Amino acid sequence: DVFFDHLANRRFVAGNFIRRRDQLDYLQEPDVFHDVFGHVPMLANPVFADYMEAYGRGGLRALEFDSLDHLARLYWYTVEFGLIEEEEGLRIYGSGIVSSHGESVFALDDPSPNRIRFDMKRVMRTNYRIDDFQQVYFVIPSFEELLRQTVETDFAPLYAELEKASDFAPEDIAEGDGIITRGTQAYALEKAASAA
Ligand SMILES: [Fe+2]
Repeated sequence: DVFFDHLANRRFVAGNFIRRRDQLDYLQEPDVFHDVFGHVPMLANPVFADYMEAYGRGGLRALEFDSLDHLARLYWYTVEFGLIEEEEGLRIYGSGIVSSHGESVFALDDPSPNRIRFDMKRVMRTNYRIDDFQQVYFVIPSFEELLRQTVETDFAPLYAELEKASDFAPEDIAEGDGIITRGTQAYALEKAASAA
């Protein structure tokens, strides 16, 4: 609730430690590089800043409904690992991607992950992994649309619906998905094979 309260009041909290050189590509805990290099530039976009505020307010509400897991996925797949479709093509806006050199290339260019058009309910039903590159990225058409959907969604009935719905694995394709890229999942398969 401390985190959400900061966001709802347009404050962003940053980590106070920095990663080691050998952790340049990925780190599970948010360090000052991730927070300042990754998040802060996005906060200068007024519409995106409004989204962060709306998310903070949504978080405070989600606490009442005991539905934080679902709302956390929205943050994960937008603020941290979001892609946006611009006239010139797909672009990164997620801070988790931006603060990883390896994932910046992977998210846009690798044939492995799925890239699916953003849908609020679909995103909230999708599990994520915190220990490796994502196997699905959700693509918004604009920050205005992301803000609009967040402000206009009535979360109480949505949470009730989500309670009864099954979750998707990151690599799943669901009925009705707006598929931009159907991933080969080669990266994940290779990893699994080398671990076996
Ligand atoms: Fe972050």
